[in-house]
Amino acid sequence: MMRLVLLGPPGAGKGTACMSIIENYGLIHMSSGDILRAERAANSELGQKAQGYMDSGQLVPDDVIIGMMIGAIQKAEGGYVLDGFPRTVLQGEELDKALDAIGGKIDAVLDLQVPDEVIEARMTGRRSCPACGGVYHIINLKPKVEGQCDKGCGELTQRADDVPEVVANRLKIYHEQTAAVVGYYKSVDKKIIEINANQAVDDVKASVIAELDKLS
Ligand code: AP5
Repeated sequence: MMRLVLLGPPGAGKGTACMSIIENYGLIHMSSGDILRAERAANSELGQKAQGYMDSGQLVPDDVIIGMMIGAIQKAEGGYVLDGFPRTVLQGEELDKALDAIGGKIDAVLDLQVPDEVIEARMTGRRSCPACGGVYHIINLKPKVEGQCDKGCGELTQRADDVPEVVANRLKIYHEQTAAVVGYYKSVDKKIIEINANQAVDDVKASVIAELDKLS
């Protein structure tokens, strides 16, 4: 049973890589962004709290996210891959404390590396399926029928935080607050697997699977 953390800047391809990971290893995909978007769609109190932060590219406050994600992790049956969490050093510390308490641990941390210049085109061209969470790109990963999810769920949508001004803010926040999470995991001797995510989708997928095959 593998428990993984996937790190990397916004638009690095974390969600895309997770699709291959869950297909190959049967892990549960736990994306903090997807959980928050579902809370917003349900108009829950948590979703309403998160809305302003997400739309402007800020991080949702740690106290909101930590409770939400640790609650979900404690209910998970089997291995999982965490996508978008932890995103601050405090989130990483609290995750480790919660896992210690239930006798669990993160087996490896994958760090997807992509230069900032590549990110904007990835995010502004992204289209997502609000029903199944599928991720496409208008040039790099086209759906079979333009604008429609390949799984038959219906129309693809563009995320409100994928416009250039918000993308720039998300990248700034990543460098200020999230990049340090890699340092945190190094400081506690966690295995860090660096992945060159500035390659074609299939090549990134092959690199990730080759690395994870060594662990399983
Ligand atoms: P979240 O949803 O987690 O967004 P993110 O981390 O910014 O990551 P993205 O989902 O934008 O990108 P990705 O790396 O998954 O890339 P993808 O595979 O889609 O978070 C959204 C917001 O929620 C945050 O801003 C924050 O407000 C809040 N939040 C979430 N978690 C939080 C936390 N822990 N703490 C506080 N706040 C939190 O790929 C992008 C595009 O590129 C796609 O179109 C894809 O088809 C394409 N693509 C992928 N790989 C490649 C490739 N190799 N080559 C070419 N194109 C590619």
